[in-house]
Amino acid sequence: MSHNRSGLFITLEGGEGAGKSTAAQGLADLFRAEGREVIATREPGGTKGAEAIRALLLATDTPLAPMAQTMLHFAARADHVEALIRPALARGAIVICDRYYDSTMAYQSYGQGVDIGAIASLIRLINLHPDITFFLDVPADVAQTRLAARGAASDRYERQGADFMARVAHGFRAIATAEPGRCMIIDATAQPQDLVAQMRRGIAARTGR
Ligand SMILES: Nc1ncnc2c1ncn2[C@@H]1O[C@H](COP(=O)(O)OP(=O)(O)O)[C@@H](O)[C@H]1O
Ligand SMILES: [Mg+2]
Repeated sequence: MSHNRSGLFITLEGGEGAGKSTAAQGLADLFRAEGREVIATREPGGTKGAEAIRALLLATDTPLAPMAQTMLHFAARADHVEALIRPALARGAIVICDRYYDSTMAYQSYGQGVDIGAIASLIRLINLHPDITFFLDVPADVAQTRLAARGAASDRYERQGADFMARVAHGFRAIATAEPGRCMIIDATAQPQDLVAQMRRGIAARTGR
C-alpha cells in the first residue's frame, strides 16, 4: 500500500501550462469546503530546503547533467516527504502535490535519457506512493497558448523545445498506462471547475472518500 494512512495523498502531473496549479487550487478549496485539512504543496519544493534546491534546478544559468538534476529532484523530494508530507498524512490531512516523482521519470528519463531503472530505484528509496495521480493532458498548442497568456519567464525545462516536450508528454502517458490503479488521465482542455469536479469524482470512485 502507499502509506499507512488516515490521510490522502493526491498528485497532479502534466507539462507546463496544462493547468496543474489551477486545478490543485480548485481541488484544495473543494476539500476545505468539505471541512478537511488540506496541505497544498508542490515539487520541486514545499519545504525550505527543497525550495532552495528548486531554485538551483530551475535556474537557467547553472548547467547540470541530467543525472545530477535527477538526484537533486530526489534530494528535494526526500526532505519534502519526511518534513511535510508524511507528518501531514499521519495526522489525517489531504495532501495535494503539484508534481511528484512521475515528473522526474517523464522529464529526466523520457525527456533527457536517464536510465529508467535508476529513477525507479530512487522512487523505491523514497517509498511513498500517491493514492491517486491525475495526469492533465492538453495538446501542446493549448499549453503554449496558456503559457503565453500566463506570461511567466521560461525555466530550464520550458526552454528545451518541442521535441523534448513531446517526449515528456509521451512519458506521462506511458506511466499512466502502466499504472492504471494509481493513475487517471484527465482531458485538461475542460474548464477548471469541470476538471475539479472530474477529479473529485475520480477520488471518490478510487478511494471511497
Ligand atoms: N482548465 C483550464 N482552462 C483554461 N485555462 C486554464 C485552465 N487551467 C489553467 N488555465 C490557465 O492556463 C495558464 C496555466 O495554468 P497553470 O495552472 O498555471 O498551469 P500549470 O501549473 O500546469 O503550468 C494560467 O494562466 C491559467 O489561468
Ligand atoms: Mg504550475
